[in-house]
Amino acid sequence: MTHVEPDLATVPETVGVPGAPHGIRVDLGGREDRTPAGEPDGVIELRNLEVFYDKFRAVSGVDLLFGSQEITALIGPSGCGKSTVLRCLNRMNDLVPGAHVFGDVTFHGADMYAPEVDVIEVRRRIGMVFQKPNPFPKSIYDNVAYGPRVTGMKTGNMDDVVEQALRGAALWDEVKDKLKQSAFGLSGGQQQRLCIARTIATSPEVILMDEPCSALDPIATAKIEDLMVELAKTYTIIIVTHNMQQAARVSHRTAFFTAAADEHGQRTGRLVEYELTGKIFGNPADKRTEAYITGRFG
Ligand SMILES: Nc1ncnc2c1ncn2[C@@H]1O[C@H](COP(=O)(O)OP(=O)(O)O)[C@@H](O)[C@H]1O
Ligand SMILES: [Mg+2]
Repeated sequence: MTHVEPDLATVPETVGVPGAPHGIRVDLGGREDRTPAGEPDGVIELRNLEVFYDKFRAVSGVDLLFGSQEITALIGPSGCGKSTVLRCLNRMNDLVPGAHVFGDVTFHGADMYAPEVDVIEVRRRIGMVFQKPNPFPKSIYDNVAYGPRVTGMKTGNMDDVVEQALRGAALWDEVKDKLKQSAFGLSGGQQQRLCIARTIATSPEVILMDEPCSALDPIATAKIEDLMVELAKTYTIIIVTHNMQQAARVSHRTAFFTAAADEHGQRTGRLVEYELTGKIFGNPADKRTEAYITGRFG
């Protein structure tokens, strides 16, 4: 897995977070204005989430309330279960051999794992964008039209749907004259925005993103970050990132996970702290969070 850290020289001017231990410097990007009041509404809620891969307990005891039209960042060292938790949020772990999910996962208060639930509909309403851009071997247009077509959405004019989704993903101006060309001709950053357009074309409520910028250069990363902030006006966004500057820049709330070894040497991921992002990066309650965000562990 390759992680491309943004070149800080290209990141907009940064300021210290008041009270931040060891002077972590992050671009606040107007986050003060975006700090939500009160508790998250729990549009998706986890209660006592536990996930096994066969007999290996990867994640245990996770309680989390996600807020709608917020960006929630899941952070923590590699292997602490961030992707595992994220995949529980639209039943993507159903597709992982050996994965078993226990506990409660609700969406608008309804059990997402109830037998009568239509999994395809779950994934339409809770879309996912992956680490590596994964456009289909089709034209730009057909990538975006794919979801509405296969889910049989009543869309009216497909050209309009495609344009709206590409505009929503801040890609329209770059591709409007080559919609019939292969998606593979786009740059990595454009491909990732195309994947976001493909996701929003099916009108989801929630977009899950698993390290969506880790294969991108700093400029493409900055564009996706701007886009996330824009998208959060309409959608609920839950993002896994190994990049703490990114979590600090874009998210409203941050959940920090870690995986300490038990007496049998088993590493099970646990949620350590979940708070407003300014608090996590400015004044974390838990020593492990502080050690991680200041780069002393992980
Ligand atoms: N498909 C899988 N099969 C078996 N073990 C897995 C699988 N996916 C992840 N794991 C294990 O579960 C733990 C959590 O992994 P993951 O959720 O990918 O962590 P993170 O995203 O935080 O790096 C790790 O120990 C990892 O090796
Ligand atoms: Mg991961």
